[in-house]
Amino acid sequence: MIKPFIIVAHTADGFIAPASAGGQAVPSTVWTSGADKKKFVQLTKNAGVMIMGLTTYKTIGKALPGRVNIVYAPKDTPTIEGVEMTDKAPKDLIAELDGRGFKEVAICGGSTIYTMFMEAGLVDTIYMTVEPRLFGTGMTVFNKPLDVKLNLISVEELSDDVLFLEYRVVR
Ligand SMILES: NC(=O)c1ccc[n+]([C@@H]2O[C@H](COP(=O)([O-])OP(=O)(O)OC[C@H]3O[C@@H](n4cnc5c(N)ncnc54)[C@H](OP(=O)(O)O)[C@@H]3O)[C@@H](O)[C@H]2O)c1
Repeated sequence: MIKPFIIVAHTADGFIAPASAGGQAVPSTVWTSGADKKKFVQLTKNAGVMIMGLTTYKTIGKALPGRVNIVYAPKDTPTIEGVEMTDKAPKDLIAELDGRGFKEVAICGGSTIYTMFMEAGLVDTIYMTVEPRLFGTGMTVFNKPLDVKLNLISVEELSDDVLFLEYRVVR
């Protein structure tokens, strides 16, 4: 059975993005560590498929190589080269990817997409990088009330001051 995992980097005070300046989303690559980027590439390439929202895709600006890139976008969004656009219900998309033979799928944000998949009860694992900075205000990992229990599976020091946590969702 396919295992969907969330992969996210957040500040020590729990934000995945700073408060947006003039409505512009800030790319995570601007403030996350090299160690986190390396982990992201390793885990997403290993899964072979990644899912993200259009806002997050726009902060990256291109399809990431070596992985199937699936982007949630409104129906009228022009097609993007190298990207599969979708508006499917999460459970239908996961079932389709299972049928395509994927063993894992990386759910790569942002907050809207993390929340949609968590609410649908589809997330098996959460990989969280804790970056050594504070934003004070900003975007949280999830944007709706949740009550989900987690088991801590492992804690890794990616570098002197960057932590990497693996949680399993308790069903
Ligand atoms: N630190 C990290 O690890 C990390 C990771 C990823 C992203 N981020 C940050 O998160 C921020 C973006 O998050 P976000 O929540 O604003 O946006 P998002 O989740 O990246 O994308 C939202 C987009 O997805 C579309 N969408 C959502 N559900 C859909 C559905 N069921 N069908 C079709 N389209 C759908 C929305 O369409 P509508 O407009 O129609 O609703 C909207 O265009 C950025 O600042 C980014 O840097 C941080």
